[in-house]
Amino acid sequence: MNAQHLNSIIEAAIRAPSGDNIQPWTLKTSSYPPFTIDVYNLPDKDQSVYNYQQNASYIAHGALIENIIISAKYFGYSTDIKLFPDKADSNFVAKIKLSEASEEKSLLYDAIFKRCTNRYPFKAYNIPTENIKALSEIGNDIDEIKIHITSDHSFVNELAKILGFNDQLVFENKLLHEFVFKQIRWSNAHAKATLDGMHIDTLGLNFLEKKLFPLIQNWSVVRLLNYAGLSRIIGLKGRYNCRSASALGMITVKTTDKTSLIRCGQAVQRIWLEATRQELAFQPIVGLPLLMFQLNQKHTPNVSINHLEKIRAAERNLINLFNIGSQELLVFGFRIGKARPIATRTYRKPANPL
Ligand SMILES: Cc1cc2nc3c(=O)[nH]c(=O)nc-3n(C[C@H](O)[C@H](O)[C@H](O)COP(=O)(O)O)c2cc1C
Repeated sequence: MNAQHLNSIIEAAIRAPSGDNIQPWTLKTSSYPPFTIDVYNLPDKDQSVYNYQQNASYIAHGALIENIIISAKYFGYSTDIKLFPDKADSNFVAKIKLSEASEEKSLLYDAIFKRCTNRYPFKAYNIPTENIKALSEIGNDIDEIKIHITSDHSFVNELAKILGFNDQLVFENKLLHEFVFKQIRWSNAHAKATLDGMHIDTLGLNFLEKKLFPLIQNWSVVRLLNYAGLSRIIGLKGRYNCRSASALGMITVKTTDKTSLIRCGQAVQRIWLEATRQELAFQPIVGLPLLMFQLNQKHTPNVSINHLEKIRAAERNLINLFNIGSQELLVFGFRIGKARPIATRTYRKPANPL
């Protein structure tokens, strides 16, 4: 196999999104027959409340695998993927065999390098119905998942009221706050030094918010400011951002097993790349759905009783509004629309071989 091709496929793979740009992966490759990429999860990278049993990390791995499939095709290779090939090792996520095949120059390959998270408020824009339909159907061949997207403004408004709580919660729970702020990179030099985390300029903050943000990295300050309504203001901003979206979506899975989460990640990446190709902005809204998912795994996340009740109520409301079936479990939310381009991009660490 052409070593250059293998490098290019790996380069595309690691452009995948991951929770707070944690990049919980490492890849082991062989450029001698049989040509393989072994994908491993790094469980210690994300020990947050969100990542119970590596749920968030497995979704990120699904996105990485989808990038491998698309870029392998682009360079003329087919992929044979075995998920969790070693039953005794849940961190051995996939063994991917590459075989020479005809090239498929998909436009989604270019989108891999243009894809990003856009946290700005979106602009008024109606996505054509056929494009919404195409996005909803993009995962039809993935049995384990279902995609629900609505562009109906009254539904979007109602959903926004629920999803605003996603951001509010970060400022009402010490552990979540600590985790998120640990991943913020405060300058370009800081981001370049770590090659992970979220650059402050990717957070969609306006001039004033950017100046105030360093103050609220301190939990004691946040607690104090919450008496004056800080977390509620942040919730309102989240709600406003969701309301500004042309469409809101949810991905559900049929079971809580890790393979379903990988398949969900593949669907996420397909939608995100297709949205990018259509020059639409995309932001995941996943903290809240991940906590709902944990409850469905019969695990109580480390949040207050009051928050648990709110998470359960939010789940019931999302199920009603999206008309989610009784066999489906919410796991990944997102908003899509038109927005100004983000000011800077997140970095990636090289995919260090084991
Ligand atoms: C499982 C998962 C959960 C995420 N949750 C959120 C979220 O709740 N809010 C958000 O703004 N971004 C979320 N993101 C986006 C990541 O923060 C983003 O992908 C990462 O910082 C890299 O930046 P990029 O997408 O611009 O490449 C999530 C991504 C993944 C894969």
